[in-house]
Amino acid sequence: MRTQVGIIGAGPAGLLLAQLLHLRGIESVVLETRTREEIEATIRAGVLEQGTVDLLEESGVGERMRREGLVHEGVILRFGGRSHRIDLAELTGGRSIMVYAQHEVIRDLVKARLDQGGPLLFGVKDVSLLDLDTSLPTLRFHDTEGAVHELGCDYIAGCDGFHGVSRPAIPSRVRKEYARVYPFGWFGILVEAPPATEELIYAYHERGFALVSTRSPQIQRLYLQCNPDDETGHWPDTRIWEELHTRLAGGDGWRLTEGRIFQKSVIAMRSFVVEPMQYGRLFLAGDAAHIVPPTGAKGLNLAVADVRVLAQSLAAFYHSGHSNLLERYSETALRRVWRAEHFSWWMTSMLHRFHDESPFHHRLQLSQLQYVTGSRAAATMLAENYVGLPFDEARG
Ligand code: APR
Ligand code: PHB
Repeated sequence: MRTQVGIIGAGPAGLLLAQLLHLRGIESVVLETRTREEIEATIRAGVLEQGTVDLLEESGVGERMRREGLVHEGVILRFGGRSHRIDLAELTGGRSIMVYAQHEVIRDLVKARLDQGGPLLFGVKDVSLLDLDTSLPTLRFHDTEGAVHELGCDYIAGCDGFHGVSRPAIPSRVRKEYARVYPFGWFGILVEAPPATEELIYAYHERGFALVSTRSPQIQRLYLQCNPDDETGHWPDTRIWEELHTRLAGGDGWRLTEGRIFQKSVIAMRSFVVEPMQYGRLFLAGDAAHIVPPTGAKGLNLAVADVRVLAQSLAAFYHSGHSNLLERYSETALRRVWRAEHFSWWMTSMLHRFHDESPFHHRLQLSQLQYVTGSRAAATMLAENYVGLPFDEARG
């Protein structure tokens, strides 16, 4: 078997890369360990930056998103019992975000890929990367029947997430990893209820962070800061509602709407970056190369930004024979990655309670929140990062 680009992983990064390459006449094969049902059912975040929305639309996979997604022109920071609105659109010259769940993006991309005739192989096992520093890097894997295949590629894209096999295939002597693990997690729930708010609420409270997000007019997505080793069994429904009401309480009469909780999960919080994001003919994209804590919802958007650069660089190579953009892929992608790493870390630090926090630290957080909601300059900084910096201006 032979292809131009071998893609490991059918998450947002791998699937969108396949679509972008297809539109440029470049062949690829996507290998995925899980089944189609599994990847289409995994619950993840749901905030798309303006640039992500535009790219999905330009790539012909934005039709359902445009119909079902919810455009938000503002976001709310709640502290001291009051809500403070950041007017995203007004502060960023009309940019906004779209609330549309990641697994819906996956469903749209899988459908587009299968309508084009693939290839998209589900349920593969034991993928290994061979000969990365030669001109014929190869992917060896087992298909669903257990037969072994070798796929010779011009290039390999490692889009297999944080626990995949691509990143460890880069020799440790050339790989530098930067990591930070946070001393808390998020407890996430899906609830059958109408929206209690028109815009997302990020709340800071002395008992910890809470986030009110949405999925549709019938389903709401809520999060609570929790212990990193909490399990869903530690959180019966009554405890969840009590804690959410306490953290979101205020003197303004706003109150969260309750409903049937039909999904619970605990999400780890970490920051992680590997440098460089390439080795020989292997290029990493998305969670395979970096992780952000979910405060600010940058994970999916960063994966999209990576594959946009990678697809452009591969197209430049195939159409004009120049590999200079490919050579600079890591450097280009990392500028945006580090901006999003900083923003996600900053939002996380401003909004969560730390177990070793002193009253001094608490006062600093409140002062920062007051500044961000009170100063146009500070609010603009939050807004332009939140809606996503324009693609060509990801400042490093
Ligand atoms: N071989 C083939 N596929 C693999 C392998 C492997 N060895 N290991 C993992 N995979 C698959 C996973 O099953 C998953 O479907 O790779 C895919 C990686 O997808 P994601 O983890 O979603 O990563 P990415 O595409 O980079 O998207 C990043 O998704 O994880 C969220 O919060 C994250 O929003 C961010 C976005
Ligand atoms: C979500 O809706 O899942 C969501 C929203 C905003 C975030 C993180 C997650 O910052």
